[in-house]
Amino acid sequence: MEFSGRIVAVTGAARGIGRALAAAARARGATVVALDRDGAGAQAVAAEIGGHAYALDVGDAAAVAAILARIEAEIGPIALYCSNAGILERDPDPDLATSADPESWARAFAVNVMGHVHAARVLVPLWLSRGGGAFLGTVSAAGLLSQIGSAAYGATKHAALAFLEHLAIAHAEDGIRIAALCPQGVDTAMLGAASAASRDGVLAPEAVAEAAFDGLAAGRFLILPHPQVAEYARRRAENPERWLAGMARLRRSMMAGA
Ligand SMILES: NC(=O)c1ccc[n+]([C@@H]2O[C@H](COP(=O)([O-])OP(=O)(O)OC[C@H]3O[C@@H](n4cnc5c(N)ncnc54)[C@H](O)[C@@H]3O)[C@@H](O)[C@H]2O)c1
Repeated sequence: MEFSGRIVAVTGAARGIGRALAAAARARGATVVALDRDGAGAQAVAAEIGGHAYALDVGDAAAVAAILARIEAEIGPIALYCSNAGILERDPDPDLATSADPESWARAFAVNVMGHVHAARVLVPLWLSRGGGAFLGTVSAAGLLSQIGSAAYGATKHAALAFLEHLAIAHAEDGIRIAALCPQGVDTAMLGAASAASRDGVLAPEAVAEAAFDGLAAGRFLILPHPQVAEYARRRAENPERWLAGMARLRRSMMAGA
């Protein structure tokens, strides 16, 4: 896919993987729109790489619709939307898998699932009317596997992947490109709050952004910057009980080491 001269919007662009996606899009000649609930952070990234910025909470449906309409009116048609913003809500009691409260679950769903849904509800009809567009959702290896220490993260990332699959099944043949970026550990602020299991081959955000654009260029749906994740997913599908027993062992060893 060619992005030179085209508009690429990135959510969660103030830091981490989103900032790297924004820089990688700019390096490919795109006009970049940095979006983040941290408006000053998005502004700083836009100033640094050359681009536009808006403050946006991706969990707010009305705000997403308003900002996307503004970008389309003031800057031009969005060719690629990198729906990257996400949050990690940890289980507050690491010894109790049910310890996250409903507010924590709601926060995780609002960002990690509905952030994709709100944007796609605006963009997919637009792209259908003009014959194409691309949606890259940042999910996680947790969307294929699990997240030790966070019930809400694993569940919302599985839901996000299911939503992206649903979009691809229905609209890939309409010229709409859908991709799911599923890294394991990436060296960002979020990783500091994640479980040690996420530290299996930590990548720099820039490497993940390059893998994302390579995956888009290759027309892949599932983009795995850590190739070992494909093998883990295969083992999980082949023998779920053995995989769960292995994860339980890993969790115990992490708890013992914590
Ligand atoms: N870091 C990792 O190890 C890792 C691994 C797999 C997947 N991911 C996923 O990658 C994405 C980016 O994570 P990161 O590691 O760069 O995290 P990060 O915490 O460094 O950055 C996340 C950015 O998203 C923004 N954000 C959070 N909630 C938002 C909201 N409601 N609206 C708009 N912006 C919001 C934050 O302000 C921040 O700038 C997330 O979806 C995360 O789940 C991260």
